[in-house]
Amino acid sequence: METLHLSVNGNRVTADVDAHTSLLTVLREHLDLTGTKYGCGEGQCGACTVLIDGRAQRSCLTPAASVGQKKIVTIEGLSNGVELHPVQAAFLKEDAMQCAYCTSGMIISAVALLNRNHHPTEAEIVDAMDGNICRCGVYSRIIRAVQRAAEDLTNSGNAERAGS
Ligand code: FES
Ligand code: FES
Repeated sequence: METLHLSVNGNRVTADVDAHTSLLTVLREHLDLTGTKYGCGEGQCGACTVLIDGRAQRSCLTPAASVGQKKIVTIEGLSNGVELHPVQAAFLKEDAMQCAYCTSGMIISAVALLNRNHHPTEAEIVDAMDGNICRCGVYSRIIRAVQRAAEDLTNSGNAERAGS
């Protein structure tokens, strides 16, 4: 057992874990950040996706002890506390969910994409979201939501928020 010191959603947190504890377990069971979902536990579905230093990563496959001082952002950390992140808002506007189990991972992957590419083509969106599985099959609405988020971020002159 060791005590980890992590940066999660802008907060310094600690967790007492063993060497093999996944970041997903720390987020959900130690920090009560249950917006990040457990799907397959094998890196195949994307439900557990979080941002680590701005990159979309599978938290189920990431040992918490490997993260160090990198900045972790979960779905709970995207909003500024007053308004939704533009990608979250776009998913709502486009009704890009059914059961919503995949949604937090989808949104995090979309944020990572828009962080590095402010104007993705449809093919680039499909490619970037390829590792996120939606069992409800609302892929067309998800693509529209990412396109809308890109437009909204551009129109608001707020593209840098995609990497928040
Ligand atoms: S739970 Fe991590 S990829 Fe499925
Ligand atoms: S909305 Fe149900 S899994 Fe995607």
